[in-house]
Amino acid sequence: MKRRPVIAGNWKMNKLQDEGKELVNNVMSGLKEYDKDKLPEVVIAPVFTCLYAANKALTDCGCGRVKLAAQNCYYEKSGAYTGEVSVEMLKDAGCEYIIIGHSERRQYFAETDEMVNKKAKAILSAGLIPIICCGETLEQREANETDRHIASQIKNALKDLTSEEVSKSIIAYEPIWAIGTGKTCDAVEANRVISMIRDTVREASDATAADNIRILYGGSVKPETIKEQMAQSDIDGALVGGASLKAESFVQIVEGAM
Ligand code: PGA
Repeated sequence: MKRRPVIAGNWKMNKLQDEGKELVNNVMSGLKEYDKDKLPEVVIAPVFTCLYAANKALTDCGCGRVKLAAQNCYYEKSGAYTGEVSVEMLKDAGCEYIIIGHSERRQYFAETDEMVNKKAKAILSAGLIPIICCGETLEQREANETDRHIASQIKNALKDLTSEEVSKSIIAYEPIWAIGTGKTCDAVEANRVISMIRDTVREASDATAADNIRILYGGSVKPETIKEQMAQSDIDGALVGGASLKAESFVQIVEGAM
């Protein structure tokens, strides 16, 4: 089963509108020379305030090489939820993907597995694609709890989703100790965890969903690490933080996934 690779850039809380526009334009011009059909699915997740400018830059270019994602959403459609943004609103702003359950959201904003599951359902019913994050802390890894913890995050996130919905979804395995630390998880070990995640998807949903779902690695992905990561049997791409803030390194990572 050949799955199309995904390279997604998570800008986190960075960039003002002009800076965001410049980054999008530079990424697009860096990717222009590549045959569109050979490129992986390239996704960028700007901060909310840059979505308008990013969407405009992407649509003006019309080259269709880069897709837009949001970094978070709320699962209710509308109403008295001060400070929140719904899936429909993000779709209206041009997003086709939404990152949910990022460890920073779980840690600083108390996002729970149950919320991740509600968000996944809301995203899929609006026809968008959730990028569901999971990952263990260093303490959990040292206590040999990685697999149990991640399997439980995945089962909870996918609860009551149909096989078709799971098939369309994307999972990002991001060991927390590897995020923003420069310490990448060894590619073979990342692949082991990711194939364990695929087995969990098979159990929680079915074989079709497990074969179709794209599972990415995230955590200090760099141009120097991507080739080895992509050479692994179960790694379908990368969720890139720091290295997505510079067009040059992000484009090199995209290239490395071709
Ligand atoms: P990093 O972030 O590439 O800067 O480690 C990855 C992420 O948090 O998505």
